[in-house]
Amino acid sequence: MENQKTSINFILGLFCLCICLKSQLALGADSISGNQSLSGDQTLISKDGNFELGFFSPGKNSSRFYIGIWYKKVSEPTVVWVANRVAPVKDKYSSSLTIQGSNLVILDESQKSIWSTNVSATNSGPVVAVLRDDGNLVLTDGSSILSNSSSIPPIWQSFDNPTDTWLPGGKLAYNKVTKKLQILTSWKNSEDPAPGLFSLELDAIDNQYVIKWNRSQQYWVSGAWDEQSKLFSLVPEMRLNYIYNFSYVNNENESYFTYSVYSSAVISRFVMDVSGQIKQFTWLDTTKQWNMFWSQPRQQCEVYAFCGEFGICNENSLPFCNCLGGFDHKSEADWNLNDFSGGCVRKTDLQCVENSSGKGQKNKFRVYPGMSLPRNPQPVKVGNAAECESSCLSNCSCTAYTYDSNGCSIWNERLLDLQQLSAGDNRGKSIYIRLAASEFSSGKKNTAAIVGAGVGSVALVLVILAVILFVMLRRRRRMVGAGKAADGSLVAFSYKDLQNATKNFSEKLGVGGFGSVFKGKLPDSSAIAVKKLESVSQGEKQFRTEVSTIGTIQHVNLVRLRGFCSEGNKKLLVYEYLENRSLDSHLFHDDESRVLSWKIRYQIALGTARGLAYLHEKCREVIIHCDIKPENILLDAEFCPKVADFGLAKLMGRDFSRVLTTMRGTRGYLAPEWISGVAITAKADVYSYGMMLFEFISGKRNSESSPDGVLRFFPCWVARVIVEEGDVLSLLDPKLERMADAAEALRLCKVACWCIQDDENHRPSMGQVVQILEGVLDVNLPPVPRALQNFFDNQEDVVFFTESSSNQSSEPQSKVSSTSAYSKSTSESSKVSES
Ligand SMILES: *[C@@H]1O[C@H](CO)[C@@H](O)[C@H](O)[C@H]1NC(C)=O
Ligand SMILES: *[C@@H]1O[C@H](CO)[C@@H](O)[C@H](O)[C@H]1NC(C)=O
Ligand SMILES: *[C@@H]1O[C@H](CO)[C@@H](O)[C@H](O)[C@H]1NC(C)=O
Ligand SMILES: *[C@@H]1O[C@H](CO)[C@@H](O)[C@H](O)[C@H]1NC(C)=O
Ligand SMILES: *[C@@H]1O[C@H](CO)[C@@H](O)[C@H](O)[C@H]1NC(C)=O
Ligand SMILES: *[C@@H]1O[C@H](CO)[C@@H](O)[C@H](O)[C@H]1NC(C)=O
Ligand SMILES: *[C@@H]1O[C@H](CO)[C@@H](O)[C@H](O)[C@H]1NC(C)=O
Ligand SMILES: *[C@@H]1O[C@H](CO)[C@@H](O)[C@H](O)[C@H]1NC(C)=O
Ligand SMILES: *[C@@H]1O[C@H](CO)[C@@H](O)[C@H](O)[C@H]1NC(C)=O
Repeated sequence: MENQKTSINFILGLFCLCICLKSQLALGADSISGNQSLSGDQTLISKDGNFELGFFSPGKNSSRFYIGIWYKKVSEPTVVWVANRVAPVKDKYSSSLTIQGSNLVILDESQKSIWSTNVSATNSGPVVAVLRDDGNLVLTDGSSILSNSSSIPPIWQSFDNPTDTWLPGGKLAYNKVTKKLQILTSWKNSEDPAPGLFSLELDAIDNQYVIKWNRSQQYWVSGAWDEQSKLFSLVPEMRLNYIYNFSYVNNENESYFTYSVYSSAVISRFVMDVSGQIKQFTWLDTTKQWNMFWSQPRQQCEVYAFCGEFGICNENSLPFCNCLGGFDHKSEADWNLNDFSGGCVRKTDLQCVENSSGKGQKNKFRVYPGMSLPRNPQPVKVGNAAECESSCLSNCSCTAYTYDSNGCSIWNERLLDLQQLSAGDNRGKSIYIRLAASEFSSGKKNTAAIVGAGVGSVALVLVILAVILFVMLRRRRRMVGAGKAADGSLVAFSYKDLQNATKNFSEKLGVGGFGSVFKGKLPDSSAIAVKKLESVSQGEKQFRTEVSTIGTIQHVNLVRLRGFCSEGNKKLLVYEYLENRSLDSHLFHDDESRVLSWKIRYQIALGTARGLAYLHEKCREVIIHCDIKPENILLDAEFCPKVADFGLAKLMGRDFSRVLTTMRGTRGYLAPEWISGVAITAKADVYSYGMMLFEFISGKRNSESSPDGVLRFFPCWVARVIVEEGDVLSLLDPKLERMADAAEALRLCKVACWCIQDDENHRPSMGQVVQILEGVLDVNLPPVPRALQNFFDNQEDVVFFTESSSNQSSEPQSKVSSTSAYSKSTSESSKVSES
């Protein structure tokens, strides 16, 4: 008895001792020092509670733990840094993060070091690891903390060893002394932080960023940094950025980019994503989700080898990746996690005899038309397609060939980066894929035979059902009549109907953000414009719901949807055809003989505003157009404007950020909030509309240089002239030869300036714009938007302008509040009122 008691006491005591030794760490501390360690559910929390560090387990397998840093204030678990990316521990309670010597190390269950900061001990003083509020884990000399000297460089910091996330304040550098590059590497997949194939790195020679596949094949470049305008040459949308302060540092030791957010309230991160795209997110506290507002490359299939070997990428299907026929997913588990990098493997191995010169090989080819071909083809000099085929057959490492007017090319070993282009893309080529001959006949029969019997009866039923359905659909279509619908309701066209109507899509009217548009003629001889949608990611039912919603939206200033076609991947929209096509062709040209008169311009401005006001204010659900530009304003025979392409953002089943990413050609119509990552409202359209008004006035693209060769951002010039109360008519398109109503011109200029205010609350609603243009409301002198001031900063006329705008800013609040900005025409209160 006595014995037992003492032994229990002894064990208890030992237990206590163990615990006391193990966890000296107070919960919620922000640092580890000396003999402390962190394990189990213990975490470090940065001083203001922005970030947390501890063990985490990504995905479903709960026997893999990593030390990572994540946001503490963001409700969606988001890891921004991982220490032991490739070496998870199985049990977080018996593993720990601790300091050994001058290093931070992770000890696994058997107290073996599996990860270390690997710094060589320079001074033997005690070291401390601190998790800072910017998400940086810093290892410093303990004494430097005591003496408050933040100038002493850290021994090691996580910002110098990023994983896939680049946080504000961090940098991606090239160290000229050690020749070491800091790179961002994607996770392998959403559940495995091990380094994936995609990485972002600095190209210090050309001052640009590049994205590479497997650290070798480059597939995206940012273009060189332009210090003057603070942007990368191939990322022009940075021009609209006023949220991030990017800067470039180049000294004798290193060169790097770094960025910060102007507003500390913005939570933002930049990620090398598992999709092979770089993405920038901000956290929206209102919706409790990350809003991705920028990504590159814009198209998934532009990511090199995204689908792995023998995979095909197709922008128009979901998932984006599939295997070539005759191939199977290499790893089903990885594919289920959308990790396609492993690619596909042959179902049947090739049987190949090296010396058979093409004859007698038990191989055949399957043709894939409309493909973009893999890189590095090997040209072969042969006379015809048959010789091309046999030259591939004669070499056992040859896997594919192509033959066209440029001759014959073959590929050896694995095929990477195959892409199925959308139908009608004239870059498409045919590629012939080598397969075992058995894939073409017996292979299929085998599998069919196994399931065949059971499926047979089911299939019969299905066939009968299909026939019934077909007949019913036929009948229904007859009732509607090809191309004719009872007043206003939508027509469901067959693809064949539209092929006929457009003479097999022969007359292209243009290419928009969502696909190409073709001219056509219905049997009743009415003209139509047929839009072939690209990459619709919605299901059939949802697509039809959205289309019928768009169909119900009718207004004299909106292009009318007449019908649609939805057959599998083929999704088309049928619109009324407008004689005078799009506005850009009437605005931007040098033909003196067909100048849009001022009266018509003003009517177009007003009509467009009415159309947008209807979308914003009169529909059951607010419809944000997202892509207002002259290309999307169509003109009928009487030059009545009609807004095109509304409702498509939703129809395409993509978040707005995807819309943004398709806007490569859209110069300067995007509101700053697109870049800032806050939720997009109808005021984003108001901004684009304002930018477009400037072009109505000048007859030129806003970003075009003026005749004297100076790149002058037109809105700045307008703002200056109206603030100065200068000659408004001098701003007009020279083709108009000052033939315009000066009061209308001034009104349009002021409205335009109000529309492009940085703060969306300061912009008028589309309804207010209509009233102002109709002359019902008066408009005050607008303040100069901040984004424009940045332009001034780079121009010589700055001095004048900043002065005058600082006069303005003495009372900006009262000026911009909507009551004082727009007042009833009769009121005399406004300082500078109309006419
Ligand atoms: C860590 O433990 C060792 C040995 O127990 C001791 O000599 C040392 O002072 C401790 N260091 C700290 C910072 O507590
Ligand atoms: C979980 O991960 C461990 C360690 O990597 C591995 O051994 C185990 O098979 C995984 N379990 C499952 C269910 O995937
Ligand atoms: C630390 O150095 C060892 C040996 O040089 C190496 O195996 C290990 O990968 C390094 N760890 C880190 C995190 O760099
Ligand atoms: C270190 O900084 C803290 C606050 O920043 C201050 O209270 C303290 O006096 C400083 N200590 C020394 C030694 O300067
Ligand atoms: C990546 O490159 C390495 C050699 O640089 C190679 O061994 C590996 O197979 C490559 N990975 C893939 C998926 O091709
Ligand atoms: C932008 O960042 C640079 C370098 O960090 C800094 O010098 C500059 O003052 C910042 N600009 C603004 C407007 O905050
Ligand atoms: C470059 O490194 C040297 C040696 O570490 C240092 O003395 C110098 O100040 C560094 N230069 C800059 C610009 O940081
Ligand atoms: C291939 O070469 C082997 C010997 O090198 C020979 O026995 C065989 O007959 C050849 N096959 C063909 C099809 O020529
Ligand atoms: C087949 O192609 C590979 C790669 O180009 C080449 O190395 C090999 O010599 C070729 N074999 C024959 C038999 O031509």
